[in-house]
Amino acid sequence: MKPLQIALLGAGTVASGVVKVLARNQEELQRRAGRGIALAAIAARNPDKARAALGDALPITTDFMALATRPDIDIVVELMGGISPARELVLAAIAAGKHVVTANKALLAIHGNEIFAAAQAKGVIVAFEAAVAGGIPIIKAVREGLAGNRIEWIAGIINGTTNFILSEMRDKGLDFATVLKQAQALGYAEADPTFDIEGVDAAHKATILCAIAFGVPVQFDKAYVEGITALQAADIRYAEQLGYRIKLLGITKNTGEGIELRVHPTLIPATRLIANVEGAMNAVVVQGDAVGPTLYYGKGAGSEPTASAVIADLVDVTRLHTADPEHRVPHLAFQPDAMSDLPI
Ligand code: HSE
Repeated sequence: MKPLQIALLGAGTVASGVVKVLARNQEELQRRAGRGIALAAIAARNPDKARAALGDALPITTDFMALATRPDIDIVVELMGGISPARELVLAAIAAGKHVVTANKALLAIHGNEIFAAAQAKGVIVAFEAAVAGGIPIIKAVREGLAGNRIEWIAGIINGTTNFILSEMRDKGLDFATVLKQAQALGYAEADPTFDIEGVDAAHKATILCAIAFGVPVQFDKAYVEGITALQAADIRYAEQLGYRIKLLGITKNTGEGIELRVHPTLIPATRLIANVEGAMNAVVVQGDAVGPTLYYGKGAGSEPTASAVIADLVDVTRLHTADPEHRVPHLAFQPDAMSDLPI
């Protein structure tokens, strides 16, 4: 069977991880997907820069729209970030019958309902493991591993930049601005780091987790969002003296009367596992009614950790593509009339 043909939109850090890991683990991937996965081409804003980072083994184009809709492409991998033109490209790819794999949390948190509805109407899949907690397979854990549970709540450290800042401020007594610069230099921070420090990035991810866990549409506008900019070194010190750590948590919870969706700094007893998640690492606790609490830990950002999640989606979509289309299950399924009408 012909390998599935993949187009990459974007040639940044995650794209270079995808190119490397796909090449390195080709045999395992073929075995797991039951079919070859072949990179056909990459769209990049700056082809010279892309060639320097990715080599010249693959065709590189600047025409993102032509590549996203090219007839021979089966799966479009969107790694550009931001809302526009990512939204237009993803919708065009779906309309052209492509499956989409995306790491774009902002896009899904804000335009996810439109995108998932378009995909469902067209019978294609939109997969987004890399959009939440980087390399931690949290979407698959909630959607598949815990599929037998009623999810009660999810709480997680889902922004590496802020966790890095809080850890360094506590351990080294450094000030906020110095550590933020380090996080940017290490490549953890968003292009606009206010998204990290004001809690917006964590809220994008929590919005997606909320939709997956409770079968509701994405509702980013309903999230309570508070970042870490008001925290001072003294707050962190006092918390420590009282036996607590301050962590920025993304929380979503079904209270029975409504769904909570919030991001804010939280005092956690220092004896808890999640209080000891340091640096840019992510950790997510999911509480199911049958399983009880479960904890997922790993790298929430970076080239190969995020590529790990993108490629898991490629394998997943390849399996589903090869199966009977009638039996494909959308990755985020909600029926407008079956939506939970619980207020957020
Ligand atoms: N800026 C994000 C973070 C990158 O710090 O977690 C991964 O989504």
